[in-house]
Amino acid sequence: MRIVVGITGASGSVYGYTLIRALYELGVETYVITTQMGEKVLEFETGVTIEQLKQYATILSNKNLFAPTASGSFKTDGMVIVPCSMNTLGAIAHGVGDTLLSRTASVVLKERRKLVVVPRETPLSLIHLENMTKLAQAGSMILPASPGFYQRPKEIWELVNFVVGRILDALDIEHEFIARWGEKH
Ligand SMILES: Cc1cc2nc3c(=O)[nH]c(=O)nc-3n(C[C@H](O)[C@H](O)[C@H](O)COP(=O)(O)O)c2cc1C
Repeated sequence: MRIVVGITGASGSVYGYTLIRALYELGVETYVITTQMGEKVLEFETGVTIEQLKQYATILSNKNLFAPTASGSFKTDGMVIVPCSMNTLGAIAHGVGDTLLSRTASVVLKERRKLVVVPRETPLSLIHLENMTKLAQAGSMILPASPGFYQRPKEIWELVNFVVGRILDALDIEHEFIARWGEKH
């Protein structure tokens, strides 16, 4: 299995970082693309650098439009953009593909592969909502970083794992990140 993870400059980089480590643990071949702000916010919020991500995934430069994921002929099982800024979301919704991250998302959509977009922004303007609607209509899954509280979480990592677990579900990847409602443990 082969997945692309995009990290943009929205708050919530810890979700992206945790997903990358989970994919590594699950033996998934993972490619990571970060925007310039994605890299900065990741370091600001988690202290993790791109250099450190290299142990879990192949890092592709957002400036390199010659990279494999820029072409539909490079087969992947999908892409997750987590966290996804409103800036990148708007670009993808309008077909802009001038960075590797937005181009890869555009390719994933045209090839009818899975595109999971994880926004964190709140509140949302009509422009944000319209862009999300456009992406949903084009086949993307909008999976807001909104953890549930029905499992009575006590620590932050439980909230993070909830969202990461739902992303893995969206990719059809088996995992044991979350206790499932209705199942006994
Ligand atoms: C600490 C920090 C947190 C941010 N959080 C968000 C956010 O949650 N959602 C969002 O859309 N933008 C957020 N931004 C603003 C984006 O980083 C900014 O719009 C940037 O242009 C996004 O660029 P990118 O899409 O290339 O990553 C944040 C910026 C900073 C510095």
